[in-house]
Amino acid sequence: MIIGSYVRHYEKVSSTNTVALAMLREGKPSEGTVITASFQDSGRGQPGNSWESEPGSNLLMSVILYPVMVKPWEQFIISRMISLAVHDLVSLHTPDATIKWPNDIYVRDDKIAGILIENSIMGKTLGSTVAGIGLNVNQTVFRSDAPNPVSLASVTGTAHDLPAITGKLTELIDSRYGMILRGETAALEKDYQEVLYKAGTWHHYRDSHGVFEGLIDRVKPDGMLVMRKRNGETAEYAFKEVDYIL
Ligand code: BTN
Repeated sequence: MIIGSYVRHYEKVSSTNTVALAMLREGKPSEGTVITASFQDSGRGQPGNSWESEPGSNLLMSVILYPVMVKPWEQFIISRMISLAVHDLVSLHTPDATIKWPNDIYVRDDKIAGILIENSIMGKTLGSTVAGIGLNVNQTVFRSDAPNPVSLASVTGTAHDLPAITGKLTELIDSRYGMILRGETAALEKDYQEVLYKAGTWHHYRDSHGVFEGLIDRVKPDGMLVMRKRNGETAEYAFKEVDYIL
């Protein structure tokens, strides 16, 4: 196993991603190093957002990778791979998990996990990746203004063993990362497409022109979302260029 070759747990950190980035600045931690924490006092979400997690309740993890076989323009494959691994984990507990583009894990219309990937580029390839995962496990009351949080406990009606969930996710990331190492890009794209939230059916969205009815067609290798519109046009969106109206 590559993932989990070295595991370091902290009771409290600013952010597991920040700790992992500091380790990369200071040396060369082994590939697959996993940083976990019981609590983050400055948990980071997607740009501009924080990540809420009450002490000891949830999975807070960052994984260090050196995906030197991945070109900068292919880097969305890392997002696909990590979100599929988290989706695999959540799917062990509920049949209703999906991946909301680009890399949120949803159960029905609620967000159960968020992912923050921080890549560095070295010449013509990726140099390192810090893949940060926040999975709501046992928290059932959320205080932040995140619109629709949910946890494994609230979905299944029972508390879960956090170390067991962490160990299982480590195995699942190892298995999905193996697909990148073996060049199984097409299989990762197919698996992602099959569990893509709202793909293939008409829903309402908002872009810079206003609200429209669209159908998610696919996500391109570069991570752009391809959407069909009722008027026959096709549009492509980068992250944050289109909002889902839930
Ligand atoms: C999102 O906004 O959806 C991304 C959330 C990512 C949260 C995780 S928790 C572990 C890691 N450390 C952080 O500070 N953020 C990520």
